[in-house]
Amino acid sequence: MRAALFDRYGPPDVLYEGRVPVPAVRQGEVLVRVHAATVNGGELYGRAGRLRLVTGRRFPKRTGIDFAGEVAEVDAAVTGLRAGDRVWGILPRRFGSAAEYVAVRPRQISFAPGNLTLVEAVTLLAGGTTSITALRDKARLRPGERLLVRGASGGVGSVAVQLGKMFGAHVTALASRKNLGFVRDLGADEAIDYKTTGPSELGAFDVVMDTVGTRHREFRRLLSPGGRMVAVAFDVDDILSSGGYILASAVHGARRVRFFSGNPRHDLLAELAGYAERGAIRPVVDTVHPLADIATAHRAMEAGGVRGKHVIQIV
Ligand SMILES: NC(=O)c1ccc[n+]([C@@H]2O[C@H](COP(=O)([O-])OP(=O)(O)OC[C@H]3O[C@@H](n4cnc5c(N)ncnc54)[C@H](OP(=O)(O)O)[C@@H]3O)[C@@H](O)[C@H]2O)c1
Repeated sequence: MRAALFDRYGPPDVLYEGRVPVPAVRQGEVLVRVHAATVNGGELYGRAGRLRLVTGRRFPKRTGIDFAGEVAEVDAAVTGLRAGDRVWGILPRRFGSAAEYVAVRPRQISFAPGNLTLVEAVTLLAGGTTSITALRDKARLRPGERLLVRGASGGVGSVAVQLGKMFGAHVTALASRKNLGFVRDLGADEAIDYKTTGPSELGAFDVVMDTVGTRHREFRRLLSPGGRMVAVAFDVDDILSSGGYILASAVHGARRVRFFSGNPRHDLLAELAGYAERGAIRPVVDTVHPLADIATAHRAMEAGGVRGKHVIQIV
């Protein structure tokens, strides 16, 4: 089958469309014909080799974690799913969804939102599941609270802004100038250019959600008493240069910075699909790229200014 691959760490040019075997469907698994995947911000670091201590030196490597598609085959031990069902999901801590097929356990998928195309739907997966976990489960965001979203125009941030409004918060979105109107359209009460307004000029917040991964110390200072900060990204250099402060703040102290790495399962995926079907959140497709143009998608993300998601269309 066709799949996005790379044989060494490096710039977007290392990516290419190659061939790998169709995954075998093991007991209790379903085979999904992937229609669309996306490029997640963290994958740019992975491809560049910035996480090589964790990702190792075995090549070729695959890309993509989220997928929306149709069930192609169901192992006899699986109930409740049939060939042709429209499903979506996130691979459990491995890459490889930018490909024609993935084999997964049913707990890793749910029915995709019935009101969206699979290309639209896939844009909500990583941002939606991450933002529900961050805002509702980790930060316990309450109606009327002041929420700051950093990286508000990106894949995660663009859904966090919408969910923040759905949970009843007053949302301040940080984005670059050209995207201020865009994040307002998503529902942000205030949109501020992070390039001209520094953290010390922003005021106080009950919850800070960071999708950028830098300057955690400065943003933590914005928390009002009882405030919570959730960081879904971290920059290795920033963590090292903070002299352990950020890691320490994650385990003790009044205003902890909560980090987590999501591994969403069926219930969370189904809940997200419900929000999309109710119209509480909408997908944001920046650009659709064919699988063969995966390098173009990475290049576009590295250029900055993304709105929502770059989608890799396979079918
Ligand atoms: N923990 C988890 O479970 C989890 C799940 C999903 C994603 N993540 C992580 O979340 C991060 C974001 O992912 P994503 O897919 O949303 O990436 P993305 O689509 O590339 O979005 C990143 C956003 O950050 C903004 N940005 C970049 N540099 C900035 C800076 N210095 N100050 C303020 N804003 C800045 C960008 O805006 P401009 O381009 O306009 O500058 C962009 O809107 C990644 O590191 C990813 O690995 C974690």
